Amino acid sequence: MSTTALPHPGPLAGPHPVISATGLFTPPDSISNDELVASFNAYADAHNGANEAAIAAGDIAAILPSSAEFIEKASGIKSRFVLSKAPILDPVIMAPRLPERPNDQISVLAEMAVAAAREALARAGREPGDVDAVLCAASNMQRPYPAMAVEIQDALGIEGFGFDMNVACSSATFGIQTAADYVRAGHARSVLVVSPEVCSGHLNWRDRDSHFIFGDVATAVLVEDASIAPRPHWDILGTRLVTKFSNNIRNNFGFLNRAAPENRDTADKLFVQEGRKVFKEVVPMVAAMIVDEAARLGIEPAGLRRLWLHQANAGMNRLIAQRVLGHEASEDESPTVLDTYGNTSSAGSVIAFHLHNADLAEGDTGLLCSFGAGYSAGAVFLRKVG
Ligand code: COA
Repeated sequence: MSTTALPHPGPLAGPHPVISATGLFTPPDSISNDELVASFNAYADAHNGANEAAIAAGDIAAILPSSAEFIEKASGIKSRFVLSKAPILDPVIMAPRLPERPNDQISVLAEMAVAAAREALARAGREPGDVDAVLCAASNMQRPYPAMAVEIQDALGIEGFGFDMNVACSSATFGIQTAADYVRAGHARSVLVVSPEVCSGHLNWRDRDSHFIFGDVATAVLVEDASIAPRPHWDILGTRLVTKFSNNIRNNFGFLNRAAPENRDTADKLFVQEGRKVFKEVVPMVAAMIVDEAARLGIEPAGLRRLWLHQANAGMNRLIAQRVLGHEASEDESPTVLDTYGNTSSAGSVIAFHLHNADLAEGDTGLLCSFGAGYSAGAVFLRKVG
């Protein structure tokens, strides 16, 4: 567990990290639950038809149909944006088909991150030359090296340094704390944290239990020293990170799979989860982390004006918000974006913040919070400075 905070409010002694601006890249294509379920059920019918005898003999199980009503009720998701719609919906393919690009072209992940980063820089009135570092904080890097962050840094024309970090769905909050620590320590004054998430690549679109969960997106958060940040901005009052090992959300894809190429497409080389256990175990962990850190910062949780929560499941967010605020949160207090974006891993809470922070007033306090595989959870307490 790691904890850092600066006394606040009061005169700022030394560097003090704030969020200057954020950016968002949303793919143009979206898949509705009805489209997704039609594709899944066509696949299930074809599979069951082709294996009729084996199913009748009890040798293999029939694949049960999916349902749009179940998906919305169990998760709150109505649609998701994706980079490669047609192949995902093709019952024969059921996976994104993103062609590999030659090394002299920008990578897919870098391209998305650059689009989000350009928006954040423009909103802050920054030139790339003003930025000291780039952290690419995301669940699924498209390659081991060179680091995605270094390619993104180069594409933007940023001097300084960059590196990748992966804490699954909590990557962005862990990245924000890391950037804040660089600012606090005086190592950098302007750090870009980008979270490009091609979640469609690691989702098993043939798995009825989870085929509806994820979408693709990229976000960018510019963390800067208050002395150079434009206004309005968001003071980072304090941050708290927690990790606790669990196999309940896991993806075994990696270089070891090379040894058994025939296993590459098996289910555990993609996203797998024990969704119910995740729900039960993560809600109390996250609520306790938030309440503890609020107490340390002298913030009354019930007084938080807005919660920008990780976007995995509407029911989980309802319960967490209830525990933190002491009452059922309204959409204004805990905005939802997973209805249209699905779960976008580390980017979800940043999308919620990006789309739903402009209306708050100077002095309002809010919480950006992520949670997911690891288990991992991160909380970033923010106060608006006008
Ligand atoms: N269509 C229709 N029915 C489905 C279905 C689908 N696509 N998938 C599952 N079902 C059925 C199941 O067969 C089960 O039926 P049964 O009761 O007759 O056995 C029933 O729906 C309940 O399934 P279950 O998987 O237990 O649903 P759930 O209510 O737990 O919801 C999740 C599933 C995944 C949405 C939910 O557990 C969740 O969001 N958990 C947290 C996930 C999370 O945050 N993960 C982090 C990822 S980074």
